[in-house]
Amino acid sequence: MNRLKDQFESIIGPAIQDRRDLLSKHGDDVVGEIKVSQVYGGMRGMLSMICETSKLDVNEGIRFRGYSIPELQEKLPKYPGGSEPLPEGVFYLMLMGELPTEDDVRRVSNQWIRRSTVPPHVFKVIDALPEHTHPMTQFSAAITALRTESEFAKAYRDGINKKKYWEPTYEDAMNLIARLPRIAAYIYRRTYHNGDHIEPDPKLDWSGNFAHMLGFDGDEFKELMRLYMTIHSDHEGGNVSAHATHLVGSALSDAYLSFAAGMNGLAGPLHGLANQEVVRWLLEMRSELGGGMPTKEQIAAYCKKTLADGKVIPGFGHAVLRKTDPRYTAQREFAQKHMPDNELFQIVSKVYEVVPPILEATGKVKNPWPNVDAHSGVLLMKYGLVEYDFYTVLFGVSRSLGVLTNLIWDRATGSPIERPGSISTKLLREKLENK
Ligand SMILES: CC(C)(COP(=O)(O)OP(=O)(O)OC[C@H]1O[C@@H](n2cnc3c(N)ncnc32)[C@H](O)[C@@H]1OP(=O)(O)O)[C@@H](O)C(=O)NCCC(=O)NCCS
Repeated sequence: MNRLKDQFESIIGPAIQDRRDLLSKHGDDVVGEIKVSQVYGGMRGMLSMICETSKLDVNEGIRFRGYSIPELQEKLPKYPGGSEPLPEGVFYLMLMGELPTEDDVRRVSNQWIRRSTVPPHVFKVIDALPEHTHPMTQFSAAITALRTESEFAKAYRDGINKKKYWEPTYEDAMNLIARLPRIAAYIYRRTYHNGDHIEPDPKLDWSGNFAHMLGFDGDEFKELMRLYMTIHSDHEGGNVSAHATHLVGSALSDAYLSFAAGMNGLAGPLHGLANQEVVRWLLEMRSELGGGMPTKEQIAAYCKKTLADGKVIPGFGHAVLRKTDPRYTAQREFAQKHMPDNELFQIVSKVYEVVPPILEATGKVKNPWPNVDAHSGVLLMKYGLVEYDFYTVLFGVSRSLGVLTNLIWDRATGSPIERPGSISTKLLREKLENK
């Protein structure tokens, strides 16, 4: 028996009816206008897709099914003795639209343990790549290789009725989420620890077991992983990794192909790779300034040099947010609790004071405040996970929760193939000027 799957099935019908009602009442209503600047500007702010799992408010930040990060920290079940939310809980919340009980969360944990065996050929694919291959490339290749296991691909070939698409998609999503920590840990140990792999511990939760397989068995690091995996899991539908997963999935590509596409987007430096870039930038700054604790004046001068060199200050700015990212704040609070005297944390805190006015002074940066990536690396460094090229893989493991939940919802509600229009500059000019 798969209770979560049954519970999910019971909410599909009402959700479809709800959409039908909305469409029949308001199908021709207008929800926005499109400016030429948006057509050229990366579709910024253009309302154009449905995402049930989370919503980003420009000032307040992310809400998962209506719950803010502090609310999740308060309301989601914790690991025994722990104080951070379990990501199994945010997954349940995103899928079902309501807060889970302790039992619900335990069942998700158990499901993922049961499904976590990775077939040997995936490890062979990873091992076939040169060791210096970026961890995100290894991750993406492994996810694509795991596609041999897709139940959706098999069911489609066997002629599944479209009303049932969600079922094998649910299975694919659950299997993939269950296996990602093992794959990620394998890449980490292979790349940085001479292939000295660590067997999973099925008694642990999803994040605790991930930390264990990476080689970090301390309770504090496990708590950090639970927080990290929860807060990076979703950021509404339009960010590159979510949108890429949705777009590729809209062609009925299975969860493996769709998620690999999302991960290839996450690997870009303006998106998920920013977390490694932040640490690289901080360490380079410290070493160029002679080591130790830089003064605010030195940090300001270094930031101005970064901008003068035509580079971005990683970890600052956002396409939607206009305030400090609550994911930054949650990590800052974790640091204040567990590592207030850590030198890199103190540098990050100083950077937080120095950078916003400098970015504001450029007159063009719309959001001078820090985002999630400005803080995550420093926490990982403190516990010894210093190989920052690996950080985006951690982000990717977490992001699977949101984007794959959305894929299940896409299949359950019969979401159509995505096909926006495009136009050449010449034709656009004719359209605008010859009317
Ligand atoms: C996140 C990001 C890609 C959003 O881009 P955006 O929506 O185009 O942002 P804006 O509208 O504010 O950009 C306007 C200008 O300010 C610049 N800008 C924005 N954030 C900047 C930053 N942190 N450092 C320097 N310049 C920045 C942009 O590059 C752009 O410059 P241009 O007009 O010369 O091309 C951008 O803020 C950025 O590059 N940040 C650093 C990378 C990062 O932390 N990414 C992780 C995001 S969670």
